[in-house]
Amino acid sequence: MASDAATAEMAATSLCDDLEPATTLTRIRDVLAAGAARVGERVVVGGWVRTGREQGRGTFAFLELSDGSCAATLQVIVDAAVHPLARLTATGTSVLVEGEIKEPPEGTKQSVEIKVSRVLEVGEVDAAAYPLPKGKVKLTLEKLRDVIHLRSRTNTIGAVARIRHQLACATHRFFDENGFLYVHTPIITTSDCEGAGEMFQVTTLFSQADKIEKELKENPAPSDSDIEAAKVLVQEKGDAVAQLRAANADISAAVAELMRAKENVSRLEERSKLKPGIPHRDDGTIAFENDFFKRQAFLTVSGQLQVETYACALSSVYTFGPTFRAENSHTSRHLAEFWMVEPEIAFANLQDDMNCAEKYIQYLCKWLLDYCWEDMEFMVNNYDKDAIERLQLVSSTPFVRISYTKAVELLKKVTGKKFEKRVEWGIDLASEHERYLTEEIFKKPVIVYNYPKGIKAFYMRLNNDQKTVAAMDVLVPKVGELVGGSQREDRLDVLKQRILDAGLPLEPYEWYLDLRRFGSVKHSGFGLGFERMILFATGMENIRDVIPFPRYPGRADL
Ligand code: 4AD
Ligand code: MG
Repeated sequence: MASDAATAEMAATSLCDDLEPATTLTRIRDVLAAGAARVGERVVVGGWVRTGREQGRGTFAFLELSDGSCAATLQVIVDAAVHPLARLTATGTSVLVEGEIKEPPEGTKQSVEIKVSRVLEVGEVDAAAYPLPKGKVKLTLEKLRDVIHLRSRTNTIGAVARIRHQLACATHRFFDENGFLYVHTPIITTSDCEGAGEMFQVTTLFSQADKIEKELKENPAPSDSDIEAAKVLVQEKGDAVAQLRAANADISAAVAELMRAKENVSRLEERSKLKPGIPHRDDGTIAFENDFFKRQAFLTVSGQLQVETYACALSSVYTFGPTFRAENSHTSRHLAEFWMVEPEIAFANLQDDMNCAEKYIQYLCKWLLDYCWEDMEFMVNNYDKDAIERLQLVSSTPFVRISYTKAVELLKKVTGKKFEKRVEWGIDLASEHERYLTEEIFKKPVIVYNYPKGIKAFYMRLNNDQKTVAAMDVLVPKVGELVGGSQREDRLDVLKQRILDAGLPLEPYEWYLDLRRFGSVKHSGFGLGFERMILFATGMENIRDVIPFPRYPGRADL
């Protein structure tokens, strides 16, 4: 049929021939990796100029281009006849160019370069206003945090971004290969997982109060006499209807007026309830039942409790997402927003948990050696000469496993160093103790287990000694605590008591207790601080430089 033929014809031709043709871009990484093999090929490459210089008395220019696909830059050569050179050479300029891959002259360090035949697009830069310096000059990492929107253009932040990406890929790969299911746990939660009261609250009460205050200023709430007057009007309109009805006259118009008067009263009454400020209950507490979720809600500190619901059905699961802690920590190891990888395994005890953590960390290290060699070399040359060696060592050496009690004994015997905080059974090990164990005593990752119950979260399984819980922390050089995990308390009565002992109310945890009421199962899990893993891998010093947009007390740029 004719219409079918027309449809077929339309389908055969492109339906979007009114659009600009797609850009067939070649990534710089691919150009460089192919080396001499692609010489003579015409390609389109795009990137940002790292350094540009005019040569041959302004007859041509060298541009060092970076597109973020790898650490190295690609040298492109543009003749003055192709494009005005002064518009291309400023650091930060973006260019999309077409040209031929050439073998550079003998003795230059490039494997290949591009001779540009056409400059397709340029995003110019006013060099005087551009915050990043040119060439070898570097801003300190601290200064770079003040230009958070541009720091991704530096070698360091680029390398960290690629390493971070690969660690995320490796994470999903590892858990998938081991039969784990990725579960997206909520970011907004009504349960405090760690019971430490360090949660950011999620509320619309403030914006609501703002809105009401503004509105009341423009249009004040009706007074009692306004409402009284409106009620009198209802009375009058009612009387009018009654009179018309008695006279057997048409009442429809009068009834409509009466209805309007009644509606006006209820509107005024409703508005008279509007009060500026945050709503309070009679007992003076904040009326969260007026809030968005009709209860208090928070940003999650950990997806653990929720992911346990999936572990107690699908066996091996993990969550990987942002977590938030409103602790006022100004250290180089703490963020207010950080990412955590949290596996949770049914039918697993503390040793299974340790085995999983060890295997996972080793897998990550091995992965970086396999997929991030160039960026890791950059780290070795610029930040930590031991970074690659550390990955090699950790990926191939079993971790030390030592009980908290033994670790404390070892630390108490230390004479060569004076700790700021005295070591004693029962204390929460400080970063200085953790690092001493892993960096000085064992010189490799250490798993400390069976911590005093008083310093750990309520959900950790109480050991038979009634004094310790089946907790484990993985401590690594450069960082200290990288992983925190435990076997979970699976006995209903013990868990209830632990919640109460922690000074927490039972009611919000009833759903969590249900997991112990209905088919309770031995299970374990841990949380790996993703940024801490990047610190450990790269040897970078400050956690604020290994997350794209760091949030910490006083700072939340962008
Ligand atoms: O030891 P934490 O608090 O353990 C938990 O949250 C458990 N619910 C995990 C679980 O069993 N599923 O945190 C786990 C890890 C720490 O070992 C540390 O690496 C990292 O998260 N971490 C932080 N990283 C950056 N900034 C902070 N403020 C961090 N707090 C914890
Ligand atoms: Mg911890």
